[in-house]
Amino acid sequence: MRLILLGAPASGKGTQAAVLTEKFGVPKISTGDMLRAAITAGSELGKQASGLMNEGKLVPDTVVIGLVKERVSQADAKNGFILDGFPRTVPQADALDALLTGLGTPLDKVVQIDVSRDLLEERATLRRTDKRTGHIYHLKYSPPPSDAELEHRADDQPETVKKRLDQYDAMTAALLPHYEKLGLLRRVDGVGSPSEITSRILAALDH
Ligand code: AP5
Repeated sequence: MRLILLGAPASGKGTQAAVLTEKFGVPKISTGDMLRAAITAGSELGKQASGLMNEGKLVPDTVVIGLVKERVSQADAKNGFILDGFPRTVPQADALDALLTGLGTPLDKVVQIDVSRDLLEERATLRRTDKRTGHIYHLKYSPPPSDAELEHRADDQPETVKKRLDQYDAMTAALLPHYEKLGLLRRVDGVGSPSEITSRILAALDH
């Protein structure tokens, strides 16, 4: 299974990727997680990315394309992967197409998770992540257990969320026609319980 999950910030890509990675036995490749890990590690990449991420801006294409090329080539991704948060621009999509063509491993599907903007803002600002396990919670829809060690992402402040959503409309929405033309795009309604969304994604993968 080589799958891209597309969708605006906080549409539920990470939540669904965590379930699908278990189901299909392939790794989740999240450029956002990779960049946050680099920030935590204090690496050069992390220093370069943190200012941009905290301002709700995209990290340069060359940087994320390099990360994904390296990750997709690792042994555990040989039989597939779930891409979460990449590609986000047409140049990133073109680079991924070229990479997978070169490897002889084409994409199976691209699933877009649709959620309205007011719900996206609420999902992002009330998101909390357990820093020990990486599990994603929501203070209203998916409350954390009392012993969770919660983190509030720096880019989940209301003003930054608005900028990220604008950035998505300006750059990432252009990917939909790209994948529609290739016949790979499926769209699912992202409003409902996480398990309902999983069922919709699995049904979309069969068509
Ligand atoms: P990234 O980490 O990729 O963030 P994102 O795309 O903005 O997506 P999110 O992680 O915010 O949300 P999600 O869709 O995964 O939703 P989640 O499942 O957590 O990127 C962060 C930054 O890194 C970017 O802004 C950019 O700077 C940089 N970056 C990353 N990739 C890049 C790239 N390719 N190019 C350039 N720059 C890049 O869910 C959200 C909340 O909703 C949670 O609280 C969850 O519990 C809740 N929730 C989930 N599903 C449901 C449901 N069905 N009902 C109710 N609540 C739900």
